[in-house]
Amino acid sequence: MVKLFLDSAILDEIKAVKKIGILDGVTTNPSLIKKSVDKLKGEESKGVDIESYIKEMLEVCGERPVSLEVIGVSFEEMVREGKLLYEKFGKYGNVYVKIPVNTCMEEECSMEGDGIRAIAELSKNNIPVNCTLVFTPEQALLAAKAGAKFVSPFMGREDDYIREMNRIKFDKTDYFPAKGIKKGEKVLDDDGIVSGVDLVDGCVKILSKNRFECEVLAASIRSTRQFREAVKVGADIVTLPYGVFIESLGHAKTIEGMKKFSEDVVEEYAELLRGRK
Ligand code: E4P
Repeated sequence: MVKLFLDSAILDEIKAVKKIGILDGVTTNPSLIKKSVDKLKGEESKGVDIESYIKEMLEVCGERPVSLEVIGVSFEEMVREGKLLYEKFGKYGNVYVKIPVNTCMEEECSMEGDGIRAIAELSKNNIPVNCTLVFTPEQALLAAKAGAKFVSPFMGREDDYIREMNRIKFDKTDYFPAKGIKKGEKVLDDDGIVSGVDLVDGCVKILSKNRFECEVLAASIRSTRQFREAVKVGADIVTLPYGVFIESLGHAKTIEGMKKFSEDVVEEYAELLRGRK
């Protein structure tokens, strides 16, 4: 059964989704931690005790996996930070260390495979890894081969990239069709990948064909349709921002139906349910 994660480091959001009763895990990244720290700094004048904050986040999540990302870029830094995160916070919950598949920040930098090496080293030490910033099924395959427990293809950012390369104006939440978009007769692509959904589909197919014990965690989801389509192509896990989680509950006809059912309640039935009969 597909698992539903929340893509947020905001405690109130985590608590709210947990209360609904269908939360399976949480993903964070440095940008999401920044968002939550900025929010806390806005609410309180004192500094933020990040250690206590993460501890509370893990305690709230209990057994559910919580991904915490490293910030180092070399093999040594990532392994040290991964171990630190796991040792410091593992006693409070189920920590998954998030490692980028590749830490190069320039097109031309040498590819020494620090990300993959760090995944292999942490996995060898029984530290579960979520491999992040995946944009090709090949990257997912290499991460799975190194021992990653989750691989995270970034759906929304893949769609952004295809639009940016082709100078198409868009808002981040604009729907991008799973089959891609055409310019003239040609379907636009990123080295054969035509959409974020197609990226997830490729990862699912490659990993299942090779029987890896690694789950595909569809990330960077910006809309309910992307959520639906990721599940349709077989993502094992989807991580949703709070807004998408809540939006997924809504529909105009659900509201209309609710109003009508409320209007039609007869007194006899109401009394029965109020326990007065
Ligand atoms: C989750 O693990 C990712 O870090 C996250 O989904 C990225 O989402 P964004 O592309 O909307 O920032």
